[in-house]
Amino acid sequence: MISHSETNPLREGLIEAQVAQPCTLVIFGGGGDLTRRKLLPAVYNQALDGALPANFAVLGVAREEMDNLSYRDFARNGIERFSRQPMDSEFWPDFERLLHYQQGSFDDLQTYLDLKEHLQKIEPEFGIPGNRVFYLAIPPAFIETCVTNLNAAGLVYPTDGSHPFSRIIVEKPIGHDLESARQVNTVLGKNFAESQIYRIDHYLGKETVQNILVMRFGNSIFEPLWNNKHIDHVQITVAEEEGVGTRAGYYDRAGALRDMVQNHILQLLTLIAMEPPWAMQADVIRDHRQDVLNCLRPITPDSIGDCVVRAQYGPGFHHGEDVPGYRREEGVAQDSITETYVALKVFIDNWRWAGVPIYIRTGKRLPKRVSEIAVQFKSIPPILFNADTDHPLEPNVLALSIQPNEGLSLRMATKLPGPKVRIYPVKMDFRYGATFGDQSPEAYERLMLDVMAGDATLFMRRDAVESSWKFIEDILEPWESSRTRWLPEYSAGTWGPLEADRMIEMDGRKWRML
Ligand code: BG6
Repeated sequence: MISHSETNPLREGLIEAQVAQPCTLVIFGGGGDLTRRKLLPAVYNQALDGALPANFAVLGVAREEMDNLSYRDFARNGIERFSRQPMDSEFWPDFERLLHYQQGSFDDLQTYLDLKEHLQKIEPEFGIPGNRVFYLAIPPAFIETCVTNLNAAGLVYPTDGSHPFSRIIVEKPIGHDLESARQVNTVLGKNFAESQIYRIDHYLGKETVQNILVMRFGNSIFEPLWNNKHIDHVQITVAEEEGVGTRAGYYDRAGALRDMVQNHILQLLTLIAMEPPWAMQADVIRDHRQDVLNCLRPITPDSIGDCVVRAQYGPGFHHGEDVPGYRREEGVAQDSITETYVALKVFIDNWRWAGVPIYIRTGKRLPKRVSEIAVQFKSIPPILFNADTDHPLEPNVLALSIQPNEGLSLRMATKLPGPKVRIYPVKMDFRYGATFGDQSPEAYERLMLDVMAGDATLFMRRDAVESSWKFIEDILEPWESSRTRWLPEYSAGTWGPLEADRMIEMDGRKWRML
């Protein structure tokens, strides 16, 4: 565990954490899977950690028939199964009294009028000054009606400083393509000010992802090397072991590019590649992240063949058991050509990154769940220890491990002990768990507190969502207009298709073994 000491103070006061303000968290879709698995467990953990504002309540709104009591049972069940910290039965009674429920249909204005009354009852009881966070944990088709009705019912206050706050959290997917994303953003923009809108990308809430900026700009040794003079290439891997599971209805229309690259992976890329921000302010950081998206080299019909590989998992093994191929999964069309794997080679055309390829791969039914960003530095010259061209030294790699083992490691050449000069690559390893002990908070815990504090740094601004779609569309359009009926296949439980190996090997490089 780390210790506070006068000579080695924690630098926590340096960037003043904004404080979560008293508010009611209204969850639309309050009876759904996301709420049960992620949102209520996140609120529970915040409560256990004493991080919630003293004046706080939750109001779930959904179609399901429930009252406050059955909603509390629903919450308890989700928390028992999915919470980071175990259920504390002594604490539970204090917590459950915060939870309320309202049944209603999202497309009926009456639901919102009732909601207003309901809030006006809860707020004085909990000493909440009228601040509200609306969390849309609902299918995208309901966003428009929900947002418009919230406004029509007078639930959106102006941002003139003389009203309590109304903030809205929107889940992905924001749109299905650029045009539909713009429509969603326009509807949001008609009813809420941009400063009230929090588009969540849960990857930005992961502890290791937040550490990227600290690692880059809190240390003096990396930044001088962080450019095309010293970096050979970057690899971003987000591998999942699971198949499509019960989400075929959504996933079969989305695919890996939309589901993972458009949002999570491009956001990781912006953090790795951005210029040093001049202040830890939401819009300064978001402007700098946006600059990276603006510099992404568009994929063209000429480059798509060399820079993009898509594939689908076929039958294979998972933990020694047979598992079906994607087309045999429940709810998936038997002739589906939805990609469950995608590999890309992208370039950022700016002064710092010119000529440095960034290889990205993500897929379902890969051998293990592992996400990492690896920065491979250039090889040393072929002299001295690297003179044997048949056995070149392995270059330095800085790997940021996002999950499951959060940490970072640096591969370096060292001398094997003994009379001869024999060189061996070793890893300097830092593991969060080993150093800091406690489990890191879940992404949703951090992100919801940020919304209550009014800090939008880790959320997607409208321009980021739309630029990411623009980049992705150059790939989606040719895919969708091609008459392909089969995609390259990889067996479930393997590291993707041969085509992806070829893509990187053509450049004389290899995917990392993870
Ligand atoms: C979601 C995707 O956004 O992220 C899922 O829709 C994916 O398909 C999930 O499984 C991965 O998140 P995590 O935090 O488990 O890596």
